[in-house]
Amino acid sequence: MAFVPVCAAEDVPPGAMARFDVAGRQVAVYHADGAFRATAAICTHEHADLTEGELEGTVVSCPLHGARFDILTGRVLTPPAFKRLPVFPVRLRDGRVEVDLP
Ligand code: FES
Repeated sequence: MAFVPVCAAEDVPPGAMARFDVAGRQVAVYHADGAFRATAAICTHEHADLTEGELEGTVVSCPLHGARFDILTGRVLTPPAFKRLPVFPVRLRDGRVEVDLP
């Protein structure tokens, strides 16, 4: 595993989220609670882009059926999803957000 650059820090302002294609994977980057976080971008219920949903603090809501996930742990907070969302380590290097993908 190695950290790979995903975007510039200014691409994701505080309180925002954005989806990036990284080595064939859809990765969601969040600027939440004063830090950058990253998870898989696609809901674990069906195929929906979580970055088109809503971000409240460190909770993201799916735009399709409303499942809610804790982006710090990937834990499902509200069904209909029941499978944990993959969470990836993030670091900031020289103004770039880097994510460690498995
Ligand atoms: S696709 Fe996300 S809750 Fe159904």
